[in-house]
Amino acid sequence: MYSDKVMDHFSNPRNVGIMEEPTVLVKVGDPDCGDALLLFLKIEGDKIRDIKYKIFGCGAAIATSSIASELAMGKTLEEALQITDQDIADALDGLPDEKMHCSNLASGALKAAINEYRKVHASDK
Ligand code: FES
Repeated sequence: MYSDKVMDHFSNPRNVGIMEEPTVLVKVGDPDCGDALLLFLKIEGDKIRDIKYKIFGCGAAIATSSIASELAMGKTLEEALQITDQDIADALDGLPDEKMHCSNLASGALKAAINEYRKVHASDK
């Protein structure tokens, strides 16, 4: 049912944890299943320098959060905003249809965090 990559990231999630002084922190939830993702970003210049997260969710949510953290690491904010649910699923060699929605958490959290950062940053000026 799951690809080897999903199983690998589920068993050994990358970049998981809490960041002491994040530039931005967001929590997003999936109202249908109740799962949630807490995402910490360290942003320097216009690049994502570090990512940590805590995931309270299903196995697919763990694997998609893990691979999304790898995809977004070191990217510019603009590049990270382009990461779609499909990119995340593709990077895991696919997800079962009924688990595709689980990748929304990671891509949604990335977008929410970057938008939040931009909002705060804009009001600094
Ligand atoms: Fe909720 Fe997968 S079932 S994120």
